[in-house]
Amino acid sequence: MSKRALVTGGAGFIGSHVAEAYLDAGYEVTVLDDLSTGRREHVPGGAKFVHAGVNDREARELLERGRFTVLNHHAAQMDVRVSVSDPLRDERINIAGLINLLEGARVGGVQRVVFASSGGVIYGDGESLPFSEQSRKLPVSPYGVSKLASEYYLAMYSTLHGLEVVSLRYGNVYGPRQNPHGEAGVVAIFSNRLRDREGLTIYGDGSQTRDYVFVGDVARANLMVSSGDPPTVNSIDDAAFNVGTGIETSVNDLARMLLEIARADVSVGHVDSRPGELLRSAVDSRKLAADRGWVPQVTLKDGLQQTYEWVASCR
Ligand SMILES: NC(=O)c1ccc[n+]([C@@H]2O[C@H](COP(=O)([O-])OP(=O)(O)OC[C@H]3O[C@@H](n4cnc5c(N)ncnc54)[C@H](O)[C@@H]3O)[C@@H](O)[C@H]2O)c1
Repeated sequence: MSKRALVTGGAGFIGSHVAEAYLDAGYEVTVLDDLSTGRREHVPGGAKFVHAGVNDREARELLERGRFTVLNHHAAQMDVRVSVSDPLRDERINIAGLINLLEGARVGGVQRVVFASSGGVIYGDGESLPFSEQSRKLPVSPYGVSKLASEYYLAMYSTLHGLEVVSLRYGNVYGPRQNPHGEAGVVAIFSNRLRDREGLTIYGDGSQTRDYVFVGDVARANLMVSSGDPPTVNSIDDAAFNVGTGIETSVNDLARMLLEIARADVSVGHVDSRPGELLRSAVDSRKLAADRGWVPQVTLKDGLQQTYEWVASCR
C-alpha cells in the first residue's frame, strides 16, 4: 500500500517543494491550504488540493478519514511583525490550528507528524554559534513562542497518544517560489528589486548574519525524517533537527552576491535596524547528518543563481 502524506501549506514556498519531494518518492499527496499567501499554481500537478484553513472542521475531518501516514505541517502565520501587532491571530492559526490538526491525526491514526519549526526565532541571542538543538531557547516574538509551544504540543502528543513526531528547525530557507513577505524573505525581496533594477534597502549596518539554506535541501530533509526510526522523545530537543548549513552570511555579503548574479548596478541604502532582530544566527545540523545522512548539497552561490533566474522568469 502506498504511503499517504497530507501537506498543509503545500501551496506555499517550502510546502510546495515538500509536496513534490513526496510525490517523487511515490507518496500519494494531498495539499491543504487556505491560499492566504500560497498560490494554487504552486501545488504540484500530481497532488490533490483541498482549499481549507487549518482551524476548519474540514481540515480535522480530512485527517480523521484520510488514512494518512504522514501529516507534514507547513501552514502558518509566519510574519514576525504581524505576530507582534496581533498576537491572538498568531496564536489562533499557529497554536489552535495545530491542535485542530493533531486531534484529527490522533483520531485518524496518522503515524507521524513532521513540523516546520524555526531555528531562526526560538534560540536566544548571545548563545555560541552555530546553535545546537540544545541551545538555550528564548523567543522574542509571539511567532517564536508559537513555534516553541508547537514543539511542546507535539512532544506531548507523542507521550500521551503515541504519535511519532519530528520538528525541523530551519535556518533561513530561500529558493524559487518564495514570497517576499515572510520571515526570511530577504532573498526574494532583493531578487525582485534587482530584476526590476531598483535599489536595495538594508536594515541596520548589514553585518547581521543568517544561515541561508536552499529549499531543495530542506524538502529532502522533510522526506528523510518522514520514514525510518522515529526519535525517542524525552524532550522537545530529542524530537528536533536543525536544518541549515552552519554558515553565517551577512546581509551585506548576500546583497553583494545577488548584485553580481543580477549584473545590476543599483544603490544599496541602510535604514534603522528593526528592534528584536537577532544579530547573528546559524544552526548546527550535525544531528540530522548523523541520524539521516542529510547534508546540504546546494551552495549559496548556486542557490542564489537558481532563485534569481526563477524570479527573472516570473516577470
Ligand atoms: N521561509 C523560512 O525561511 C522559514 C524558516 C523557518 C520556518 N519556516 C516555516 O515554514 C513554513 C512554510 O513557510 P514558507 O516560507 O513556505 O511560507 P509561505 O507563506 O510560502 O507558506 C505558508 C503556506 O501556508 C498557507 N497558510 C497560511 N495560513 C494558513 C491557514 N490558516 N490555513 C491553511 N493554510 C494556511 C499559505 O497560504 C501558504 O501557502 C511555515 O510554518 C514557516 O513558519 C519558514
